[in-house]
Amino acid sequence: MNLRIKIFTSLASWIIILIAFGQTPPFCLSDPRIFEAGLFCGKRPPVPNSSYIPLFVQVMQSLSQRVTADHWGNYTVHSADFSIYSLAQCHSDLSHDDCLQCYAASRTRLPHCLPSPSGRIFLDGCFLRYDNYSFFDERTDPVWDGVNCNSTVGVGVDVEFGKHAAGLIDNLTAAAVANRGHAVEGRKGVFGLAECWKTLSRDGCRECLAKANRVVKSCLPSREGRSLNAGCYLRYSTIKFYSNQSEDSNSKSGVSRTVTAIAIALPVLFFLLLSLFSGYAAYRRWRKRKQERDKLGRISYSYNKSNLNFRYETLEKATNYFDNSRKLGQGGAGSVYKGNLSNGKTVAVKRLFFSTTQWVDEFFNEINLISGIEHKNLVKLLGCSIEGPESLLVYEFVPNKSLEECIRNKAKILNWKERFNIIVGTAEGIAFLHGGCTFRIIHRDIKSSNILLDENYNPKIADFGLARCFAPDKTHLSTGIAGTLGYMAPEYLVKGQLTEKADVYSFGVLVLELVCGRKNNAFEEDSGSLLKTVWKLYKINRLTEAVDHLLKGDFPAWEVSRVLKIGLLCTQASVSQRPSMEEVVRMLANENCEIPEPTQPPFLNSMVSAESDRSSYSTNSSSPNTVKKLRDRYSSAESSSIQSCDL
Ligand SMILES: *[C@@H]1O[C@H](CO)[C@@H](O)[C@H](O)[C@H]1NC(C)=O
Ligand SMILES: *[C@@H]1O[C@H](CO)[C@@H](O)[C@H](O)[C@H]1NC(C)=O
Ligand SMILES: *[C@@H]1O[C@H](CO)[C@@H](O)[C@H](O)[C@H]1NC(C)=O
Ligand SMILES: *[C@@H]1O[C@H](CO)[C@@H](O)[C@H](O)[C@H]1NC(C)=O
Ligand SMILES: *[C@@H]1O[C@H](CO)[C@@H](O)[C@H](O)[C@H]1NC(C)=O
Ligand SMILES: *[C@@H]1O[C@H](CO)[C@@H](O)[C@H](O)[C@H]1NC(C)=O
Repeated sequence: MNLRIKIFTSLASWIIILIAFGQTPPFCLSDPRIFEAGLFCGKRPPVPNSSYIPLFVQVMQSLSQRVTADHWGNYTVHSADFSIYSLAQCHSDLSHDDCLQCYAASRTRLPHCLPSPSGRIFLDGCFLRYDNYSFFDERTDPVWDGVNCNSTVGVGVDVEFGKHAAGLIDNLTAAAVANRGHAVEGRKGVFGLAECWKTLSRDGCRECLAKANRVVKSCLPSREGRSLNAGCYLRYSTIKFYSNQSEDSNSKSGVSRTVTAIAIALPVLFFLLLSLFSGYAAYRRWRKRKQERDKLGRISYSYNKSNLNFRYETLEKATNYFDNSRKLGQGGAGSVYKGNLSNGKTVAVKRLFFSTTQWVDEFFNEINLISGIEHKNLVKLLGCSIEGPESLLVYEFVPNKSLEECIRNKAKILNWKERFNIIVGTAEGIAFLHGGCTFRIIHRDIKSSNILLDENYNPKIADFGLARCFAPDKTHLSTGIAGTLGYMAPEYLVKGQLTEKADVYSFGVLVLELVCGRKNNAFEEDSGSLLKTVWKLYKINRLTEAVDHLLKGDFPAWEVSRVLKIGLLCTQASVSQRPSMEEVVRMLANENCEIPEPTQPPFLNSMVSAESDRSSYSTNSSSPNTVKKLRDRYSSAESSSIQSCDL
């Protein structure tokens, strides 16, 4: 009781002192200021380079280290075809933790720009940019510089407000130039912050802020304005949004030092006591919540006998700290490592590039669902780790690498029986995803590198189900890169229209690739796309000529023709004419089953003509440019001569 009274007395005196000196308390609430003030993406290229994304990931990781150490950092990588220049910076008033949070937020949002070679994002607490040229000394940019005014004009705004705010902005600008590129100012209800990027010289900073100053004033008399420039950021607001770290260390004028010292020391003492108490209470609350969460977790785990939750440290150790020699592959969403658990089990650990912290619940739910799905042709998801510094997924380990290795790198020459077995197994796996289990799952990214082979060369489909966790544009990340373009159904590519039939299309491409032993590269103009080659041979009734020469003719011609025909059926331009996966499985299993005559796949000028008579290919696409380029390429490929499959 006694203690409590004391605490209240101290609180009261504390508050009185605060009021008396008109200061805000020194214990500022944490605010990483991750409001998105602006996101600017460059033009998307028609042909993104498939090695771009792994390099991009590397850049973001290196920047992360620099930001952790210094609050900002720049980083550059060069490859034969392109360079990535990058810069990240937190505003100087952000605390270390807020800075890391802000950077993490910008890092998860900036990939919206991919595969464009340039993008920049302005959050209210930090800035992140990557580009294909050295922009470190860039001050202003006539094209991309922006201004973000809040349209709410305060009711009864003072006539003086505009004048006062303009004066403050002027003072702010001057102070920032003088003070190594950072300043905050607050006076009479108007607050401002100016920040130049650290790579800029003092002159550069002055030039950039001069423009920002001019531009942001155009927002007046709005209550808030932000100027977003290549070299700097300037914001004013009627709300105090920044944290003034020097505020409490500098003491107040007009009060003698001793009085101040006592005034501070006394309440601080009690404040410490109080925080001890509230800290203890918070700890108890946290423990209770944690227990609840654990309970909830246990409930969700009980779906499944195996414990889905892996400790980050366990997986780190299992992969020898993500040693490069353990790396099995690199995809759009992350890299995969081989891991040996202490119980002797071998697993594959996927390190996700995207931080999942924002949607942990959904993510976890999803993992619960997917891990319950079992089929002989699907790679089993064993669990995940989401509480560590990055999100990890744990899969069963499949020893023989991917089908991609067999097709592209000829790591092993598969005979016809093996190929047929792979086609049937893959079809069954996809059919199961589409309807065989309680949830309907569209894979979205069926391709040879996602078909893994076990010791007996049975196929296992990897990477299904999680696509739903990522926002639609994020999944384009993994599907939007060059290697995968060849598998994308035209209606998905053009309109983003996603149904099971998109998987059917990708499956069809896969079938043709496997039978012909060649990748369907839409961009190989000289040899023409695989689809086109097979279609032309089909039209002249010489389908078996398309078969991989490495089989040396050792295959039953009727079966090969059937399979190729099924491949063509699956890749038809018309969505409704493509068979369902269930029908595909039936056709493959039953040799007496009649196979309909396929219609033309979407290439040559059909993409253009289909457009005029079928609304599903209209050009109101999100990336008309890409598609136009694609179309041009398809038509130019048309003039090339027919080549046999094995080239
Ligand atoms: C992508 O870049 C790599 C290396 O920089 C190069 O070898 C490859 O040919 C490029 N691929 C495409 C499709 O441009
Ligand atoms: C950067 O990319 C753009 C396309 O977005 C291109 O026009 C420009 O030439 C590239 N610059 C360099 C230096 O590669
Ligand atoms: C304007 O500010 C108000 C309050 O600060 C906020 O709720 C609103 O979203 C802002 N509007 C815009 C367009 O930024
Ligand atoms: C700007 O600075 C001048 C001189 O330092 C000061 O007199 C004036 O009040 C300041 N204006 C604002 C709006 O802070
Ligand atoms: C920040 O704190 C210092 C020291 O108390 C003070 O002089 C300055 O006016 C404050 N700045 C702002 C913008 O509030
Ligand atoms: C960082 O920026 C400076 C310019 O301020 C530049 O000289 C330097 O090369 C950059 N470093 C990297 C790693 O890009």
